[in-house]
Amino acid sequence: MEKIIALAKRRGFVYPSSLIYGGLANSYDYGPLGAELLKNLRDIWWKYFVHKREDIVGVDTQILQRPEVWVASGHVSAFVDPVVEDKVTHKRYRADHLIEDWFEKNQGKKINAGILSIEEMAELIRKHNIKSPDNNDVTEPRKFNLLFETSIGVVEGDKNLVYLRGETAQGIFINFKNVLDSTRVRLPFGIAQIGKAFRNEVTTGQFVFRTLEFEQMEIEYFFDPANNWRQYYDELKNYYYNFITNIIGLSEEKLRWRQHSAEERSHYSKMTEDLEFKFSFGFKELLGYAYRTDYDLSAHIKHSGVDLSIIDPETKKKFVPHVIEPSIGLNRLFLAVLENSYFEDDQNERVVLQLPFVLAPYKLAVFPLLANKPDLVNTAKKVYHQLTDEYYCYWDDRGNIGKRYRYQDEIGTPYCITIDFQTLKDSTVTIRYRDSMKQVRVAIDKIKSFIKTENEKIF
Ligand code: GLY
Repeated sequence: MEKIIALAKRRGFVYPSSLIYGGLANSYDYGPLGAELLKNLRDIWWKYFVHKREDIVGVDTQILQRPEVWVASGHVSAFVDPVVEDKVTHKRYRADHLIEDWFEKNQGKKINAGILSIEEMAELIRKHNIKSPDNNDVTEPRKFNLLFETSIGVVEGDKNLVYLRGETAQGIFINFKNVLDSTRVRLPFGIAQIGKAFRNEVTTGQFVFRTLEFEQMEIEYFFDPANNWRQYYDELKNYYYNFITNIIGLSEEKLRWRQHSAEERSHYSKMTEDLEFKFSFGFKELLGYAYRTDYDLSAHIKHSGVDLSIIDPETKKKFVPHVIEPSIGLNRLFLAVLENSYFEDDQNERVVLQLPFVLAPYKLAVFPLLANKPDLVNTAKKVYHQLTDEYYCYWDDRGNIGKRYRYQDEIGTPYCITIDFQTLKDSTVTIRYRDSMKQVRVAIDKIKSFIKTENEKIF
């Protein structure tokens, strides 16, 4: 993990946020390379789930919504962490995490304290005299709501409380009827959304795995509950697994499905499975896959008084659709991709990010062999400009060629193209593969078709 964090900072993927003012805990900014990788992940996800499927459409809804949305969804009452405070330092900690750490350290047992009630946690803390990490007494655990609050209104004293959205899903539910009435979608169908969500987590950490502000990519897939929910559940689950393994290339041996117990499931779910990825700090949730039933639509019907049910055009039967929800955090997907592709090639004394072509920030790098030979530089510039029509390319004429290759390897550029003296004679260039370091000669006018043929089929 330290190596990934160092590479991310050194090469402009991720920086700690607000660093010139001392940093802001659990917040990160994305640099030029990170912004590209995030964008590539968003784009390929949208293409695969929205453009490639006739039964899923996309929306882009607001971060600020009426506060009633979060009352109806249950987030105001149930979206809570159990928290204790160190009586001396006043630092706050997740009670379940302190309990789990205590059991692991003192009894060598891995337990899941997240399923305990607040009273049960209080009892365990008292019984075992569990202290804070600074070895001080802690307060009784209490519930701490994860929704960030802000207010709308310019006049002090006349401000209205609103929440920053805790999940993008609610923007989909409150627009369900709009989408149904304004498009030609018919059940079963899905609505997808990518956007920021915010959670006032008490203890976070683990780099970009869990941050206060993060980005979600969510789908709500609506269907008639009279049909067998399992068919929709399994179809979308398999389709998603293909995205994770074949499209963005996460290794199958680093993935596993884990079903939530009844105590662990969110308040809205009848069945949840996590697709976990083996991060450097252990197996952790990457994708949450939940059968949310009609929990949300029914809650919004009750609280808004608006009828969000559907009438089947053939049978005239009226019902509230059920939903399957795959929910993934873009930033933790980003981290999984970085960890999955990081490779120390000791034999060749280099670090390589073996990113799939579709995710690599730069697809190609173009170099003149020597920077002080105008013929080489001019030809290389021409090649570079031809290629930038189609691909995001890196231009580099600094230092020696070996150093340029090492740099591109570290940022995951799949191909380096060098214009050398032979180019001036026969209009061919050297193309070097990032992973194998193999080199081939290709005619300038064949470079685009060469790259296309090699990376044609992603779906
Ligand atoms: N919509 C599921 C989640 O935010 O965790």
